[in-house]
Amino acid sequence: MLSIFTVSYYAAGGWIGFWALRVLYRLSPFHPLAKVPGPRLAAATQLVEFYYNVLNDGQFIFKTIEWHEKYGPIVRIGPNEVHVNDPSFYNVLYSKDYRFPKSQGHYRFAQQTEGGLGNCNSRVHKSRRAVLDPLFSTQSVLKLEPRIRKYVDLATTRIGRNAENSEKEGFEINSVFRCMTVDIISEYAYSEAIGMLENERENDPFFVGMDNLIGLTWLYSWTWRFQDLLRALPFSLVSKIMPEDVLGVVAFQQQAEDRVVSFLADTEKAKAKFTHTTVFEVLLNGNQEKGYEVPSLNALKEEAWGFLAAGSETTAAALSNGIYEACKEPSLQQKLYEELLAEFPDPDSDPITYKRAVQLPYLTAFIKETLRTPPGVPGRLPRVVPKEGVTVCGQFIPGDTIIGMSSILQQFDPNVYKNPSKFDPDRWIHDKIPEQSFVPFGKGSRGCQGMNLAWAEIYLIYANLWRKYSFKLHENSTLVDGWTDQFIPKRQGKLKVVVIPRGK
Ligand code: HEM
Repeated sequence: MLSIFTVSYYAAGGWIGFWALRVLYRLSPFHPLAKVPGPRLAAATQLVEFYYNVLNDGQFIFKTIEWHEKYGPIVRIGPNEVHVNDPSFYNVLYSKDYRFPKSQGHYRFAQQTEGGLGNCNSRVHKSRRAVLDPLFSTQSVLKLEPRIRKYVDLATTRIGRNAENSEKEGFEINSVFRCMTVDIISEYAYSEAIGMLENERENDPFFVGMDNLIGLTWLYSWTWRFQDLLRALPFSLVSKIMPEDVLGVVAFQQQAEDRVVSFLADTEKAKAKFTHTTVFEVLLNGNQEKGYEVPSLNALKEEAWGFLAAGSETTAAALSNGIYEACKEPSLQQKLYEELLAEFPDPDSDPITYKRAVQLPYLTAFIKETLRTPPGVPGRLPRVVPKEGVTVCGQFIPGDTIIGMSSILQQFDPNVYKNPSKFDPDRWIHDKIPEQSFVPFGKGSRGCQGMNLAWAEIYLIYANLWRKYSFKLHENSTLVDGWTDQFIPKRQGKLKVVVIPRGK
């Protein structure tokens, strides 16, 4: 009889042999991607991505940029994956017709497969978006503007209240932006006030957890089976296994999911409390006669968490980014102030509205620059090539290959943006910038669902803040310029500012 040792020996030998043959095939001229240029090691194994993203903290995007400089506009960045740097291909890849579906592997970090960002089933996604999109249209945003303004005003007041203290210790403005974006998305999507701003929950365990989790994005992607297992366990058990400093996010996620359960338990009672149509209602009321499939409980839970996750950190980071850049170059603040002062001489008697704010050219230019550098989602958004394949940059790419592009390449294209790493709002006024070179919200059927809401939030809070205050970096500020790619950009350090009321 074979001993365990002998069986293990042969199993290990077989496994090594299988992988050796696999790697040889990937590197051979018989592989369908053999003609696509790129580093041999990346063609041989996905561990290259693991090395740069997981072990080296989100550096794969920067390596990819280097490879493009060396190999040209199309590069094989993995055994079955290519990356493209050709702006004219962006609208083809990220089209409205679901021709290139999302590639699940990359989105595993989102811990969603049935709803939200991580749902890669195009048929299901299409029908969900059809019912959800009207809720996030510009018209809906305008209708709900008073509710958004409530939180913008609370945030503005909170920042103003800290003016005096900020001189001594510096004020961590990002924490207010985070509270504001969480309050707005929960009010907007679920008609439920979470009360982050009203209860001054800047140090809520959710944010502490977010700080710790953001750096683990790619580790989550690589360990998704384990993460899925954890999610299936009750919170009481998870809290014993997971590190304490990330539990705030797990608890928050759980609360979002509980909201679905209590909504389903007594829909009429829940609806009676709503001030406007919510995400849950439209998801449950799609027209089944026209083929709409009501989402499962799990899908609803994923949608519930998905909006909170997608709609908070992204917008808050963009807002802080703009404040930071304007602190480094105070003349930008002066231009913003003068434009706003002319339009809103007395904001107390003449409230700042979204419709009027969007007409201000310098504020618009400033916001676009804030969303350009760095982009809110800088790295690749991988899709799957359809069965018939696609020709890009003169190269035929066969079906089932993973293919992606990264906004950082378009938004830092030196042929479009002079001195691309300079934060320069004026470029939006003087230069002609092609539409495909500015893609902070992605494009097409899987582009950002909340972009109209994000624009409104950013316009409203910036118009209020730049009209009422100026800011300068406090000596305790530790935020650095550089960032790493964690799906969203992650920066080291804390932004601390001095808040100076205008007119003082
Ligand atoms: C400055 C702020 C924001 C930026 C830069 C941003 C960027 C993006 C990008 C690039 C995508 C596409 C991701 C992909 O293709 O994989 C996306 C998707 C998404 N965003 Fe945003 N976003 C922002 C704010 C928001 C807000 C406020 C919401 C709230 C509703 C939101 C909800 C979503 C959702 C639900 C998706 C998934 C859409 C789908 O797959 O159909 N985002 N966002």
